[in-house]
Amino acid sequence: MSKIFDALRKAETEPRIEPRTRTITPELSRPAREGILSRRFPERMNRELATLRNSIEMVVPRSNKVIAFVAAIRGEGSSTLAAAYSRFVATEFGSRVLLLDADLTGEGERLSGAGFDAEPGFLQIIADGLPLLRGIRAIEGGGFHFLPSGGKSLQTLQVFSSDRTRDLLRELCGAYDVTVIDSAPVTLYPEVPVLLTQADGVVLVVQSERTRREAAQRAMNRLAGAGCNVLGAVMNRRRNIVPGFLYKRV
Ligand SMILES: Nc1ncnc2c1ncn2[C@@H]1O[C@H](COP(=O)(O)OP(=O)(O)OP(=O)(O)O)[C@@H](O)[C@H]1O
Ligand SMILES: [Mg+2]
Repeated sequence: MSKIFDALRKAETEPRIEPRTRTITPELSRPAREGILSRRFPERMNRELATLRNSIEMVVPRSNKVIAFVAAIRGEGSSTLAAAYSRFVATEFGSRVLLLDADLTGEGERLSGAGFDAEPGFLQIIADGLPLLRGIRAIEGGGFHFLPSGGKSLQTLQVFSSDRTRDLLRELCGAYDVTVIDSAPVTLYPEVPVLLTQADGVVLVVQSERTRREAAQRAMNRLAGAGCNVLGAVMNRRRNIVPGFLYKRV
């Protein structure tokens, strides 16, 4: 009994950490199961991605940066947004962007890398010393590249805390304007912050009408408590309550 009371008291006294910036991305009418890396997004989505980019640029103005997308739990849309953001910044701003699938749990939908083999990738670079260039896939003619996860591992803590991961991120940072990390959910995998503290900024993705406040708060606390620079939150899949014909006029 006292354990429960202790837990409740602890939850009450945990600091309430608020995200610095907020973005609201819409429910897409055609869910992006495949082709997320090359599909065109509706104008509303692009507008929100532009807002998100501005928020990120204002807080992290340096030119070669690592930005991570993470959710509290599974299926909130962190891979979708990591991929959408990468593509948006590469195509609209002509930036050199590398999207890194860093979900090594083997349990995600592997959405960001749909259409690409998972191997070789991140895991082989860290564990086997594979040269970086062997893992990178070019998505579009320009500067949008993808580094797949390389499959799954039970040694994610060792991978994330290794010098090789630090060196890899430094190398990517030197080669790309933006390196975007697509992460596994933070409340389910305690080792996630070990990787995300190495990013310049972290964006928390929550799903509209789905993520519970406690889960989002726990995710924020876990990230901030580990020393991650949490830039803001994206509320994903917000349904459009304004009819389409009216929406176009506002
Ligand atoms: N804005 C959106 N509109 C419609 N569908 C979406 C949207 N964002 C994500 N989805 C759908 O929700 C599902 C989960 O998205 P996604 O894989 O990006 O989430 P995730 O947080 O990366 O999940 P996981 O933890 O499994 O990796 C996918 O089927 C995706 O197509
Ligand atoms: Mg994912």
